[in-house]
Order: sequence, then structure tokens, then C-alpha cells
Amino acid sequence: SHAGHESFMLAEIGEQPQALRRTLRAQSAAHAIGEAPWETLAGARSVSFVGCGTSHHAALVGRYLLESWGGLRAEVDVASEWRHRDPDVGPGDVVLGITQSGETADTLGALRLARERGAHVLGLTNVPGSQITREADGTILTDAGTEVSVAATKTFVTQIAALAGLALRTGVARGVLEPARAALLADGVERLPDVVAQAQEAAAAPVARAVERWAEEPFFLFLGRHVGLPVALEGALKLKEIAYVPSDAYAAGEMKHGPIALLSEGTPVICVATESPVLDKLRSNVAEVRARGAHVLAIATEGCAGSIADEADELVLIPPTDVLLSPVPAIVPLQLLAYGIARARGLDPDRPRNLAKTVTVE
Ligand code: F6R
Repeated sequence: SHAGHESFMLAEIGEQPQALRRTLRAQSAAHAIGEAPWETLAGARSVSFVGCGTSHHAALVGRYLLESWGGLRAEVDVASEWRHRDPDVGPGDVVLGITQSGETADTLGALRLARERGAHVLGLTNVPGSQITREADGTILTDAGTEVSVAATKTFVTQIAALAGLALRTGVARGVLEPARAALLADGVERLPDVVAQAQEAAAAPVARAVERWAEEPFFLFLGRHVGLPVALEGALKLKEIAYVPSDAYAAGEMKHGPIALLSEGTPVICVATESPVLDKLRSNVAEVRARGAHVLAIATEGCAGSIADEADELVLIPPTDVLLSPVPAIVPLQLLAYGIARARGLDPDRPRNLAKTVTVE
């Protein structure tokens, strides 16, 4: 049941700190089925992430983690595209399928193709007995607990935490992370449950105001750069799937190449403006959006919100983390925004139309 909560989705958003804590505990016990994934990755030439929907967005964050912490060339594609584009993988390459259910047809299909081509096949799932655990050479488990709501929330943040742990171990095994730096990063990963709890608190009031102001808006634009881009994509997906609000998510640097034409007086723009190496550039993108009359909700990092705060109509400040971990707290306000707008429109967020929790057909 969703004891004491008005829906599974809200309960599951609220459970994210515990889901992260359990997942990190499982990781420190090196919880994996089959071969140890970080050992496979230690000797690999490249890793290709495949997944669908929210799991694809976690993979986009995973690419930054494996490249930067793990020292491994990484690429990402949606499973239904990757498996039909004659991908260039073979012996020495690793293909890592991300699927919380472990049953998604296209993700499993992509892994079967990878195996045919001689690549190593790894999985990341939340369901211990699922199909992917039987097919992959090695599987990493998240321990988010059962996710009932169709919209993935706690499985998304635990996927990122697990990928961070994997990147750390891989970086150490490949000799690209100094022990001192690895310890520092591990500390940041361990703090994620608390950071998410703080983000939940910080988000409550500004998100409630945004919901009140924007519940009837016909269109939202989400912007981000760097690891903020997957957060923007995921925020837009949540709003589409449970509130049925047309929304688009874009790399902020692409604005001038088309989507800025969508903006008019009062268009809501959600900007993931957390700390990153490109925060200054993002700041000018936000100013451009503002100059077109758009209204901006910015997700920023405490202590480096700077002039973003001047450009934003609403601001959510999330606690500082390592830049590559920031998607975990940054998604929280966007989950709550989608939830709030769905409720304000009289919709049941647990039962979105046209969607199934597990997609076992192509
Ligand atoms: C979004 C959502 C879907 C799933 C997608 C993949 O909230 O739930 O987009 O993320 O169907 O599912 P899994 O992770 O089970 O492969």
C-alpha cells in the first residue's frame, strides 16, 4: 500500500533516501550476480549503455561517470535504436543494459545482439529474478524496493548511485583514480541519501508555488547542459507521462538553433542550472530565454547560484555534491513538479493513460 500517502508515486519519491541507502549498502557488499562488472570493465576497450525511457536517462549520466571516473570510452543509445543500427561492438567491448524491471524487450534484444557480436554483456536492474539477470554475464542490482507507480522515480536515482559506484571501482581497477580522490568521491556517493532528503525539503515550497502558477500552462521547455541535460530530459518525460503536458527538453546551447522560437510571454522554462564546468554559458542561455519573456524555474546549487538567481522567477537550491552526482538531488524538484501538476489537473499519477509499467513487446 502507499500507507499515509495519497499515491504510490508520492510515496516512492519520498522513499528515495532509503532506496539509495539500501542500494549503497548492497554495493559496498559488492552485490552482483555472475562476474564482477567492474572487473569486466577494468579490461574493456569501451562501454555502450543501452536502455529505454528513464533508464536511458540514467545511462546518459552513467556515460559521464564511466568516462570521467572510470577512464573508459563510453557511448549511450536508446535500446530500440542501438540494436537496429549495426553497432560497432565486438570482443573487448562491454554493452551494459539498464532496465529497472529487467524485462524490457528492446533492452534485452540489444543485449542479445551484443552477445552475438562477441561483446561482454552486463546488466543493471532492480529485480533480482528478472530476465536480464539470467542473460547477462554479470548484473548489478539496485535495491530501490518495489516500484508500483508507472513513473520511474526511486529506481532512477538508485540507478545513478549504482553507476557511480561502478565507475569508482572501475577507475580504481584501471588505475585512473588516485586512492585519495577515489575516497573523496566515495564519500560523496555515501552522502547522496542525505542530499536527496535535503533536496526534498528545499523543493517543497518553490515547487508548490510553481504548480499553482503553471498548472494550466499548455507547454513547458526544459533546459540543461552537461549532466543537467539528462535531468532536463527526465523532468520533461515525467511531465508528459503523468500530467500529459506537451514539453520539450533541450541542450541549452541548442536553443538558438531552433527551440527559442517556441518561447513567448510567460512560457514556463525549467532550467537545470546546477554547478558544472559550463554554468557561465548556461547563465547566458537563461538570460536569452528571459529576454523573450519566458518565466524561469531554476534548479541551482547552494553556494553557486550566483546570477542564475537574478534570472529566475523561482529557484530551488539543492545541496552541493560532486558535479557528476548532482542529477540525483536535481531530479527531485522535477519529479515533484510533474506530480503536483498532474494532481492539480485532477489526474491520477499512478495510472497514466496508454502506459504500462513493463514493456515486454517491441
Ligand atoms: C518512465 C518509465 C519508462 C521506463 C521504461 C524502461 O517513467 O517508467 O520510461 O523507464 O519503460 O523501463 P525499464 O527500466 O524497466 O527497462
